[in-house]
Amino acid sequence: MSWQATVLTLFPEMFPGPLGLSLAGRALETGVWSCRTHDLRQHGLGRHRAVDDTPFGGGAGMVIRADVADAALSALDAPKEMPRVFMTPRGYPLRQKDVSRYAQGPGVVLMCGRFEGVDERVLNAHSVEQVSIGDYVLSGGETAALVLLDACVRLLPGVMGSHESGVEESFSDGLLEYPHYTRPATWQGHDVPEVLLSGNHAAIAAWRQKQAEEITRERRPDLWSAWLARREKNEAATGLSGQVRQTGL
Ligand code: 6GU
Repeated sequence: MSWQATVLTLFPEMFPGPLGLSLAGRALETGVWSCRTHDLRQHGLGRHRAVDDTPFGGGAGMVIRADVADAALSALDAPKEMPRVFMTPRGYPLRQKDVSRYAQGPGVVLMCGRFEGVDERVLNAHSVEQVSIGDYVLSGGETAALVLLDACVRLLPGVMGSHESGVEESFSDGLLEYPHYTRPATWQGHDVPEVLLSGNHAAIAAWRQKQAEEITRERRPDLWSAWLARREKNEAATGLSGQVRQTGL
């Protein structure tokens, strides 16, 4: 049974898009996952197949009608254990743990909005999760859906193959990853950090850990605070003091 993506959208031609190439594209060809679209317009009303209407209470923009959104969600044959997810800047932030949860299940149903959104009653009635991929506004949910699918598909068994294990990457332990270097060892007068050429694996691991911590503190104070709090808690549990950690004893 392959992992199944179902996308509800007004622009079915946007899928699989870039996910038809590279690792995800190979996995699509070999049946590791599938990507089918369901055109929201099919459920539109009248001669113009209208899907949207003006918001009650007034305001700018248009909202996908409750009856149209309900018809689209009800017409799906996706099993009910498959999460329904509406892509919206109003959603809960998408985290690696959510991606991991989606990837471990049978697949996802992604609903992509254009306009201002979808009637909230329908999202509640169909237990639709609402997810955002970041604090910026996209013109529609489709590119966000592609991001979510990319993040899921790379975790499916056999997709990454020998490319990367996924264990030593950013977010796996709550820190951003250390920087990378390759040949030439001297490039335009700039040397690779000496420790990386030392062959001393313990020293390299320690250097990378320190770099990861400094970069996280600088770039992502939110992740840094969370990581510090987790370390405190672990040390309280194991009885390891900060002094012992610093001296390496
Ligand atoms: Cl999930 N959808 C849209 N339309 N805009 C977004 C977003 C999603 N996440 C951030 N901005």
